[in-house]
Amino acid sequence: MKKLQELLDNNARWAESVRAKDPGFFAKLASQQTPEYLWIGCSDARVPANEIVGLLPGELFVHRNVANVVLHTDLNCLSVIQYAVEVLKVKSILVTGHYGCGGVRTAMGTRQFGLIDGWLRSIRDLYHVHHGELSKLETEDARVDRMWELNVLQQVNSVAQTTIVQNAWHRGQELMIQGCIYGLSDGHWKTLGESIAGLQQIPEVNRYQPL
Ligand code: CO
Repeated sequence: MKKLQELLDNNARWAESVRAKDPGFFAKLASQQTPEYLWIGCSDARVPANEIVGLLPGELFVHRNVANVVLHTDLNCLSVIQYAVEVLKVKSILVTGHYGCGGVRTAMGTRQFGLIDGWLRSIRDLYHVHHGELSKLETEDARVDRMWELNVLQQVNSVAQTTIVQNAWHRGQELMIQGCIYGLSDGHWKTLGESIAGLQQIPEVNRYQPL
């Protein structure tokens, strides 16, 4: 295991190299942040948000949890979305899942892992909803691949159904939600499904009236 001192040394070198390229960089960042994107992704250590999309500190507002779940009862995730949309006024919410997500795979299985099983429960429900469609796929790999994608699409819908996002659209605020998926094995990040940029793209039954 790397010693803490190694990380401190890494940090000192990094801060110095950034300063060398742009002496005002940290002073500028410290005074304000104006990210255009909110990233909702998995906690997986192999999916580092900024690095994957080549964005600098200050350019990406980030929320990560196991299996990039968006639940309407999760104060943490909802607070991030609310602050990003209403205060920072991000233009896009990127819901990024990844192939190889252990959280999703766990939700499809029968083994218990403790507290995390409750966190993953909604994905387990999603798996049950799509079980018929998934069982037509020939291999377990194909089923898991599809579940990784279905989870992203589900979380995109979940974001679009928050009152936070719908009120932004009611106000006429520009805001787009895009599902994305990252491949651990090739490093490629791609969009998944249509982007959602307004209430007209949401089924009527899922729409809220303006406040
Ligand atoms: Co994951």
